[in-house]
Amino acid sequence: MSRLVELEANGPRKLDADDLDEQKGDVAICQCGLAETFPFCDGSHRKTRDEAPDKRYVYDEDGTRAVVDRVVRDNDSE
Ligand code: FES
Repeated sequence: MSRLVELEANGPRKLDADDLDEQKGDVAICQCGLAETFPFCDGSHRKTRDEAPDKRYVYDEDGTRAVVDRVVRDNDSE
């Protein structure tokens, strides 16, 4: 499984002590790319639980999911 994610940031997000979850004492960083609170995990990764290992996905802003067969770049030639 994999998924295509669009990110707009063009630099690092530096974490500090204020980013710690006071109750858990840790910081959960999103690795699925779907968090509304990116770079922090908000539980959105649950949407990926039933992704097939051999498929690539894209998620729309409303949470709907589609399988992507291939990626075509502007400079790709056939
Ligand atoms: S890992 Fe992405 S929302 Fe949790």
